[in-house]
Amino acid sequence: MPASIEQLVGLAKRRGFVFPSSEIYGGFSAIYDYGHYGVLLKNNIRDAWWKHMVQLREDVLGLDSAIFMHPMAWKASGHVDSFDDPQIDCRTCKARFRADHILEGFGVNADKQPLEFINAELDTLRAAGKLKCANCGGKDLTEAKRFSLMVKSNLGSPTDALSEENAVYLRPETCGGIYLEYKNTMDALHPKLPFGIAQVGKAFRNEIVARQFIFRTREFEQMEMQYFLHPDDMKAKYEEWKATRWQWYLDYGIRPEKIRWYKHEKLAHYASEAYDVEYDYAVFGGFKEVEGVHARGDWDLTQHSKFSGVDLSYFDDATKQRFVPHIMETSVGLGRLFLMFLDHAYTEEETEGGARTVLKFHPALAPVKVAVFPLLRNKPALVEKAKEVYKALRGRWMVEYDDNGNVGKRYRRQDEIGTPFCVTVDFDTLGEGGAETADTVTVRDRDSMKQERVKIAELEAWLAARLAA
Ligand code: GAP
Repeated sequence: MPASIEQLVGLAKRRGFVFPSSEIYGGFSAIYDYGHYGVLLKNNIRDAWWKHMVQLREDVLGLDSAIFMHPMAWKASGHVDSFDDPQIDCRTCKARFRADHILEGFGVNADKQPLEFINAELDTLRAAGKLKCANCGGKDLTEAKRFSLMVKSNLGSPTDALSEENAVYLRPETCGGIYLEYKNTMDALHPKLPFGIAQVGKAFRNEIVARQFIFRTREFEQMEMQYFLHPDDMKAKYEEWKATRWQWYLDYGIRPEKIRWYKHEKLAHYASEAYDVEYDYAVFGGFKEVEGVHARGDWDLTQHSKFSGVDLSYFDDATKQRFVPHIMETSVGLGRLFLMFLDHAYTEEETEGGARTVLKFHPALAPVKVAVFPLLRNKPALVEKAKEVYKALRGRWMVEYDDNGNVGKRYRRQDEIGTPFCVTVDFDTLGEGGAETADTVTVRDRDSMKQERVKIAELEAWLAARLAA
């Protein structure tokens, strides 16, 4: 388990997982780039989600909708008018905070509460002398005010003409595109209710405070699934999806005691039920939201139907009933999952060869599955054989060829990026140890560090059996 967020951020940068964006210009707040191993890990997490949410199901279809949508869609959804957070500033040092987070620190649940409630609670703390700036300790803090999270842009109009009337928005959540493509999906693919539409894509939010590495960023990726159903089916399907999502975490190695459900007491006015999956982040010292599973009623389709004038109701042939489908959603941030898997995998341990840092990822998520080494880089016969083994495997998996430093150093490097297996071609492989070990390689297991001799002819099948997700 990592001792601190700084330790994890350090490893993520040093080993090419995550970089702060625009670093040569001094950085760009709450925006991050994913390096080579980062993008491999992120893609594997995305694929693991897609596999369970779409590939292995008969009732979920895929979508990749655009980031830009008709601005009216965000009016209809309520985002333009009320997708905001309560902001509070320190007049002394100019630091900015979320007022609901400050109240949370005093045990007051201010989630989705009106400004009046938040300011009344802040006043009580102020009067008691308890309200202080977390940055400078000063007591001169502003009232809370609403801060819109919507990120504006312009399309087809010069920037200087950017005004409320012609502003367009970078989507704050990916599900908006799903609602707008509900009708086309129905018309093209004719699914019967209940069914879902899933998509993975970028979302943008002008977060007031975003100081938690990739946990909360202004540009991030969401993986969302909207499940359309008859309201009578909501209760059963909701429980089914909660169980499905819970199992997904366990399937990818998360220990059950590291996750829990958080039930929302204060719901959005259209929601009937809302639970979050929370993960116990060692780097934050506690549980934090990773994913939401929400029953949203018929709010979304009703609103889009009202604002667009297009009928989005569904006719059930069997019951001869016409109704607006209700929606159950699962919504998870890819960056938050990335941080969760990194936090969970990070291990420091003492070994006979000294201390090591190892990322014990589930094999399906590991960025690189196998590393192949020649025992020595200056022996052409070893190099030739090792390259042969490497080339035979790389068509199937992400495989690395590494001949830098000695084998011990290569193991440490691969441990730090979480490679499940390291394969070494040595003199025995070349037949120098006798017929028994000729054409065999040493395979070292990342977690147990045990080594096994495997025939090259059987290597791919041997690895496949152990890497299978
Ligand atoms: N469509 C519902 C929706 O967007 P949300 O609770 O606002 O609900 C869903 O977001 C998930 O998206 C969160 O549980 C989190 O994993 C991720 N997420 C939201 N805001 C984020 C941010 N600023 N940075 C990273 N991930 C974020």
